[in-house]
Amino acid sequence: MNLLDVIKENARENPKRIVLPEGEEPRTLRAADEAISEGIAHIILIGNPDNIMKMASVAGLTHINKGNIVDPENFENTESYADLMVDLRGSKGVNKNIALELLKNPLYLGTMMIKSGDADGVVAGAMNATGDVLRPAFQYVKTLPGISVVSGAFIMILPNRADGDNDLLIFADCAVHPDPDARQLAEIAVATAQTARVIAKIEPRVAMLSFSTKGSATHEMVDKVVLATKLAKEIDPTMYIDGELQADAALVASIGQSKAPGSEIAGKANVLVFPSLEAGNIGYKLVQRLAGAEAIGPILQGMAAPINDLSRGCSVADIVNMIAITANQASQTSTN
Ligand code: ACO
Repeated sequence: MNLLDVIKENARENPKRIVLPEGEEPRTLRAADEAISEGIAHIILIGNPDNIMKMASVAGLTHINKGNIVDPENFENTESYADLMVDLRGSKGVNKNIALELLKNPLYLGTMMIKSGDADGVVAGAMNATGDVLRPAFQYVKTLPGISVVSGAFIMILPNRADGDNDLLIFADCAVHPDPDARQLAEIAVATAQTARVIAKIEPRVAMLSFSTKGSATHEMVDKVVLATKLAKEIDPTMYIDGELQADAALVASIGQSKAPGSEIAGKANVLVFPSLEAGNIGYKLVQRLAGAEAIGPILQGMAAPINDLSRGCSVADIVNMIAITANQASQTSTN
């Protein structure tokens, strides 16, 4: 079974309530139909019920009627969600009128469904920019205890490597936080190790990447990675992690041995933590486009409940996969 099959199987075993705020978006609707028919989640679509059912009928989607549809114009919980929003962000100027206005936006409504315990996860972004998907989550769902920063990981499945679980690597942060400081980078490493365990089902060996290996260069950017490595070990002393390492030292055994002798990680890394969003975003796209890797993600990590962002160029299959990944994350959150 490949990894996505395993993720879907896990989702089927413990189906979670996943909200799709872009319920009237055609690919999302088709993905919802598929997710329901495959039994990987209880789907909640946000949108106008008449429009959704008409679109489903025209497209020949026969499972949508087994999901739930929440009409933002006419939803019984809107008042209580607005009250909760005022409780949570009254100090930031949110009053009842502002909250009611925000709840007309399906992205806020979906977020508040999670916050209120009416759903377990959100998948959106087929027609909304990353910032618009993330902002409601940052404001109302917030981060996990001990984590202050949300980040985005990719599972990279490499076509030509046959060395055990090294055909599968996790990269982060490739999607969210532009310029993490050392503490934030440490948290990103801890969160990515957790994603490796929960979603990729591998035991993480984390390399903190830099343009330097073990003091080969001197620069404040290198100092940041060295400090982040130390802080990550303090947060999770059980984690296998080393840094600072260059990418070749992290991945290639012979180079790891010569540049970082004695390192438990050099040459064996399966989780690569990049020092900035620039490096991570460029890095994953290079590996995807030049090495032909399959890039699964971004998988948002560090959030108190799972909310995942799609690329606006996503396919129906991408959305179904992200529903399954979000359900796996939700299972983990609910057992913590
Ligand atoms: N983790 C947790 N909370 C955060 C984070 C974060 N990474 N970033 C911001 N916040 C919180 C802030 O603390 C703030 O909370 P508060 O209102 O309670 O004080 C709230 O979110 C809003 O903060 P802003 O600084 O105003 O954040 P803004 O909304 O301007 O920006 C955003 C956040 C949109 C995610 C920004 O960091 C961004 O644009 N990142 C890059 C995203 C991107 O374009 N990625 C590349 C494309 S994705 C891809 O290629 C796969």
